[in-house]
Amino acid sequence: MSAGAVQTSGTEVLRPHAEHAFAAELAALAAQDDRPRPDRWRLSPWAVALYLRGGTLPDGTVITPKYVGPRRVVEVAVSTLATDRALLLLGLPGTAKTWVSEHLAAAVSGDSTLLVQGTAGTPEEAIRYGWNYARLLAHGPDRDALVPSPVMRAMAEGMTARVEELTRIPADVQDTLITILSEKTLPIPELGQEVQAVRGFNLIATANDRDRGVNELSSALRRRFNTVVLPLPESAEAEVDIVTRRVDQIGRSLDLPSAPDGTDEIRRVVTVFRELRDGMTSDGRTKVKSPSGTLSTAEAISVVTGGLALSAHFGDGVLRPGDVAAGVLGAVVRDPGTDRVVWQEYLETVVRERDGWQDFYRACREVSV
Ligand SMILES: Nc1ncnc2c1ncn2[C@@H]1O[C@H](COP(=O)(O)OP(=O)(O)OP(=O)(O)O)[C@@H](O)[C@H]1O
Ligand SMILES: [Mg+2]
Repeated sequence: MSAGAVQTSGTEVLRPHAEHAFAAELAALAAQDDRPRPDRWRLSPWAVALYLRGGTLPDGTVITPKYVGPRRVVEVAVSTLATDRALLLLGLPGTAKTWVSEHLAAAVSGDSTLLVQGTAGTPEEAIRYGWNYARLLAHGPDRDALVPSPVMRAMAEGMTARVEELTRIPADVQDTLITILSEKTLPIPELGQEVQAVRGFNLIATANDRDRGVNELSSALRRRFNTVVLPLPESAEAEVDIVTRRVDQIGRSLDLPSAPDGTDEIRRVVTVFRELRDGMTSDGRTKVKSPSGTLSTAEAISVVTGGLALSAHFGDGVLRPGDVAAGVLGAVVRDPGTDRVVWQEYLETVVRERDGWQDFYRACREVSV
């Protein structure tokens, strides 16, 4: 995260940054994008939205969809970044807030790494600047002893900064952002200087709906943000599509063989998660109890990826009910006391009775004993 971060070669890293993973798409977009670009933007807002939603360029280059969801959400998010207001992505866990923030920064600034991870222990220095104490002692306070935060660098270079989990940051530290976002200036009183944001600077923050109340955003800070709520996938089809795509990408990066027949299991995992989340079977006939876990799309993705690894290394390479059952149980039963009962009830009243689900029922019974 610091300015001197060790650079690793692109082929070896476990998870390349979006701007590297999708460099070819970004380059094709930049080459064919003839719409006006805001200062220091790599692409026009139109092309940024196309990068996120996917599509085909005039020369036939296919842009894969990154975010599957309402078009308007993407358009409002992108156009906010072209204004003087910052962007706050709000939503339940696993609704792709971090994912969208990374891709927006990659498409707008070509760099998604100017990132502050918010925690209860995030200090002001992580948002403003710190000091290299060896230099400070040897030479006194000067610009060379100053260690800029990612936000300060983004301001000086006209880039997109990212703040993850804004509401986990203590309120007084959050308020550091008020001057930055309203005055677009970061004072350095120790040097009698300031850093003024240049055009192109903006900030994307993410916050979790469930954390609301941990550290409420002050209304002064909230006013500096345009809030965009990322919804849960609207239909089972959309969610299956998201899970299939991501599992395929993750599987390729882990060298897992692709599972062409995995769609049935993916559909099953998504159905179970949605029904438990909604408290209702998909036909709307039977009420079910919801467990304490979030059962997000992101968790469905990891259950299926885990299942693929099982089937690749210990099975016949085809994703089967037995490969996902343990993962589903682990995601559903977070609190062994209450969730186990909820799961047993769902298993016996819904899964057991459903046509074509007998294998899955047996696989779940095996792991739950
Ligand atoms: N609508 C969606 N479109 C595309 N991918 C999605 C969507 N919803 C979830 N995902 C996938 O879910 C995964 C998790 O998303 P991410 O980590 O961004 O969630 P988050 O909202 O930041 O969650 P948290 O609140 O736990 O931080 C990502 O791999 C992302 O691709
Ligand atoms: Mg996140």
